[in-house]
Amino acid sequence: MCGIVGVIEKENATEKVLQGLEKLQYRGYDSAGICFKSEEKLNVIKSLGTIDFLREKVPKNKSNVAIGHTRWATHGKVCETNAHPILSENKNWAVVHNGIIENYKYICDDLQEKGVHFSTQTDTETISALLGQNNFLNPIKNIAFLMQQIKGSYAFCAVKNDDKQQIFAAKNKSPLYVFCSPYISMLASDPICFPKGEYFKMEDGEICKLQIGKVEFFDCKCQQIKKQPNLEQQFDAAEDIGQFDHYMLKEIYQTSPALRRLAINFLNLDLSALKKLSFDKVKLVGCGSAYHSCMIGCEYFKKVLKVDSEALQASEFRYGSTLLTKKTLCIFVSQSGETADTIAAAEFASKKTKNIVVLTNVLHSTLAKLGKIILPISAGVEMAVASTKAYSCQVAALYLLVMTLKSEKMFYKAVSDVFLLSKKLDKFYINMAEFAQEISFAQSVFFIGKGLDYVTAMEGALKLKEISYINCNAYPAGELKHGILTLIEKDVPLIVVATQPKIYEKTMNSALEAKSRGAKLFLISASPPKAFELEDFEMCLSLPKCPPLLRPILAILPLQKLSYLVSIQRGNNPDMPRNLAKSVTVE
Ligand code: AGP
Repeated sequence: MCGIVGVIEKENATEKVLQGLEKLQYRGYDSAGICFKSEEKLNVIKSLGTIDFLREKVPKNKSNVAIGHTRWATHGKVCETNAHPILSENKNWAVVHNGIIENYKYICDDLQEKGVHFSTQTDTETISALLGQNNFLNPIKNIAFLMQQIKGSYAFCAVKNDDKQQIFAAKNKSPLYVFCSPYISMLASDPICFPKGEYFKMEDGEICKLQIGKVEFFDCKCQQIKKQPNLEQQFDAAEDIGQFDHYMLKEIYQTSPALRRLAINFLNLDLSALKKLSFDKVKLVGCGSAYHSCMIGCEYFKKVLKVDSEALQASEFRYGSTLLTKKTLCIFVSQSGETADTIAAAEFASKKTKNIVVLTNVLHSTLAKLGKIILPISAGVEMAVASTKAYSCQVAALYLLVMTLKSEKMFYKAVSDVFLLSKKLDKFYINMAEFAQEISFAQSVFFIGKGLDYVTAMEGALKLKEISYINCNAYPAGELKHGILTLIEKDVPLIVVATQPKIYEKTMNSALEAKSRGAKLFLISASPPKAFELEDFEMCLSLPKCPPLLRPILAILPLQKLSYLVSIQRGNNPDMPRNLAKSVTVE
C-alpha cells in the first residue's frame, strides 16, 4: 500500500527520497510523487507508473528538504492529480499520506461551504486543506488541531513553505518510523529506507518535528514527549536481489535457511508464558496466505492437542458471530504485522480474552503490540507481493507452537523435524518449466485436495491467480461432483494434491471423475508415481519423505515455482502483481 519517505539532508534530499521510494516499491503502487523545497517554495512533481518515470521528471538541482510518496489508490481514480504530495489551496503546505480519512466527506462539505476549493478526489486533501486553514503560528499546534478534526487511519508527513529545514509528521494506526543523525534525518513507512543505526517507531497520537540532527516528539496536547530510539536497522540480504531476476524466486530459495533460523529462534525463546496458557478452544485468524497457514495450524490443534479449533479470515472475524470467552485462545498470524483487518480483529478479540498470541515476521509491528505472547516466524525480509518463505515459516511456527503446548519431548522433536525439513528443501530441486508451459495459457485452472492437501490446493490457487491473473479455484476433492464438474471442459488443467496415504484413494476417485469429463490431470503426491498414475496424469511430482504434518511445506514449493514461471511466461512482473499491495494497511 502507500509508502511515505521524508528526508532532510545536507547534500541532496530529493535523490534520497527517490531511493527510499524505490525501496518501498514492494508495497505496491500505481503512481508516485515528490515535493522538494527550494527558496521557500514547495515544488511538486508527480507521475503515473513506476519510480523511473518520476525520476525522469525530477530536476537534478539539489534541495535539503523533500517528501515523497507511492500511492495505491483507495479514494479517487489513478491519475497524476490524485497522486501525492497534495498541496493546500494556498500552497502553504504539502502532504503525503498513508491510510484512510474516514470523515473526509464531512470535512470536504464543511470546508467547501467556507469557500475552500478542492482539486483532487482524495481523502488526503482534507489534511492539506485543514492545515492550510488552521492558522496557528506554531505548526505543532496546527497539526494537533488537525488531529482533533480527522478520523481514521493515517500516517502523514507535511512540509511548510517557509525557510526552515523541517518536516512534520503524525500517525494513527498506520506505521511511521523516524531516523535522525547529524548528516541525514528521515521519516518512512518502513525502516528498510534508513541507513544502518538506531531509529524510532512513532506511536498513535504522536506528532514529530524532524530537523537535521534533531527530532522532537509531541503528544496531541502539544506537550513534548521524551522518546529513545528503540529499534535498530538490521541489514538484510533480502534487500539485494543478488543473482536472481526477481525477489519472488530469491525468496522461494530462502525458505530453507529461514526454516533453520526459525528452529534456532524457537530453541532460544522463553516459551514459559505459552506453556502456562489455559484455554478450551482456539481461533486462528489471518488474511490470504496467512489465513491458509491458520487453516493448517487449526488441523495441528485438532490432530495433536484434540482441541476445538477454527481458522477464520480476519476480515470476517469481527462481523460474523464469532463466539469468544475468557478461555478462548486467539492466534493472529501476519507476515507484515500491519494488515489492517488482522489488527482490527486482534483489537476486537482483546476485549473478550487475554489469551492473545501473535505470530509475525515483524516483531515491532502494530499487530505484535496487541499480543500477550509474540512469536517470530523468522522469515527475513519478504519483498515480493506473493508470500512464499513467510507462508512456509508461518506453517512451521504453528507446528512448533502446537508441539510446545503438547510436551517438552514433542517440542524438541518438532525442532529437529523443522531442521531436517530444511535440509530436504535444500536438495528438493524440481524443474517446473514443462509443467508451467502446459498451463501458461489456460483460461482457468482447478486445484483439488482433501484435509491438509485442500489447504495446499487453496494456497497454490491463490499464488497462481495472484501473479498469473488466470482464474484459479481450489475445491475439496469430494465437492467436485456437487456442482463444480459442470465447469470441467476438455483440456482444463486440474492440479491434484494428494500427499496423505489414508485419503489418497478418495482424492484419486474425484480426479478421475474430472478426467472422464476432459480435464488434464497434474499430480503432487508423497510417493513415486504408480504405473496407472503415469497413464492418467500429464505429469506426476513426488515429494521427499518428511513428517506428515510438515508435508504442506514441501507440497507448496512446486506450486510456488509453477506460479512464478507462469507469471513470467505471461509477461507479468511476479514481484508486483497488478492491483495488489504487499502490506494491506487499509480495511
Ligand atoms: C499472499 O501471497 C498475499 N500477497 C496475501 O494474501 C497476504 O498473505 C495477506 O495480505 C496477508 O498479509 P500479512 O501476512 O502481511 O498479514
